[in-house]
Amino acid sequence: MDVNHPTGTHSRADALALRYGTEAEPTNGPWNDVIATLLSHRSVRGFLPDALPAGTLETLIAAAQSASTSSNLQTWSVVAVTDPAKRAALAKIASNQKHVEQCPLYLVWLADVSRNERLGVEESVTLETIPHFETFLVAAIDAALAAQNATVAAESLGLSMVYIGAMRNDPVEVGRLLGLPPGVMGVFGMCVGYPLPTVTNAVKPRLPQSAILFHDTYDATGESATRAVYDERMAAFSQRHDMTQDTWTKRVKGRMGKIAAMSGREKLVSILNGMGFPLR
Ligand SMILES: Cc1cc2nc3c(=O)[nH]c(=O)nc-3n(C[C@H](O)[C@H](O)[C@H](O)COP(=O)(O)O)c2cc1C
Repeated sequence: MDVNHPTGTHSRADALALRYGTEAEPTNGPWNDVIATLLSHRSVRGFLPDALPAGTLETLIAAAQSASTSSNLQTWSVVAVTDPAKRAALAKIASNQKHVEQCPLYLVWLADVSRNERLGVEESVTLETIPHFETFLVAAIDAALAAQNATVAAESLGLSMVYIGAMRNDPVEVGRLLGLPPGVMGVFGMCVGYPLPTVTNAVKPRLPQSAILFHDTYDATGESATRAVYDERMAAFSQRHDMTQDTWTKRVKGRMGKIAAMSGREKLVSILNGMGFPLR
């Protein structure tokens, strides 16, 4: 089985085996090209300079705008960043992730309540819900759903991508660079392009379904055993792809164990307060 197989061209059994790092799971069920594309997703962190075909950006955005949006409020926007100086500054914010500068298309996805706020001003109505945490959450969810639709569209076209959550290392500076008004926050970035042939481009195994799918009642029984199984699969995956040998347990401890791993994001609530999201 070729792990670097082009997007969506594996058989059902092979695609599921890659996703779970073992035999196909679940063993039976429906299958089509869309699901094949979804299951073959992998983040790519190195891009060729090749430009995308004309109209690709607009097609990805049409896919993004086709996602559901809470109450059709459409509280998201997106900035395509082409200016090399801005790209360099954004890469620096993202702890020097070189692909932010390198990829042919870099998008910053925005939670954006400012448009609706301006509507309120023009219509002389106070939109009382705007300062509430619920509204920020709706905007962040809207942005994520839109971005994921763009991801699926890109991958269905044979493009690769990686999300850049590290935009939240410094949302104020991202806002300054992109001219964001109050009530707009860059929730994450996204690199899109053709993968460098030299970078790891493999489907990363996920937790077994028994760890995350429950029927009627949440049930964490057996979780330790499931985690041990997944740790083994992730260790084997890391070894296969010359990554620092890593288990999922180690990763969770490393990313969630110390505040320092938040790279400044631990101050997010107070930062948002200063960005027009008072979050009540
Ligand atoms: C919101 C979000 C932010 C992310 N931020 C980064 C990032 O800043 N840098 C990076 O290399 N990967 C980032 N990732 C990619 C994840 O590390 C990746 O999705 C995860 O390890 C699973 O691997 P896969 O996407 O190849 O299946 C992010 C993913 C998400 C969903």
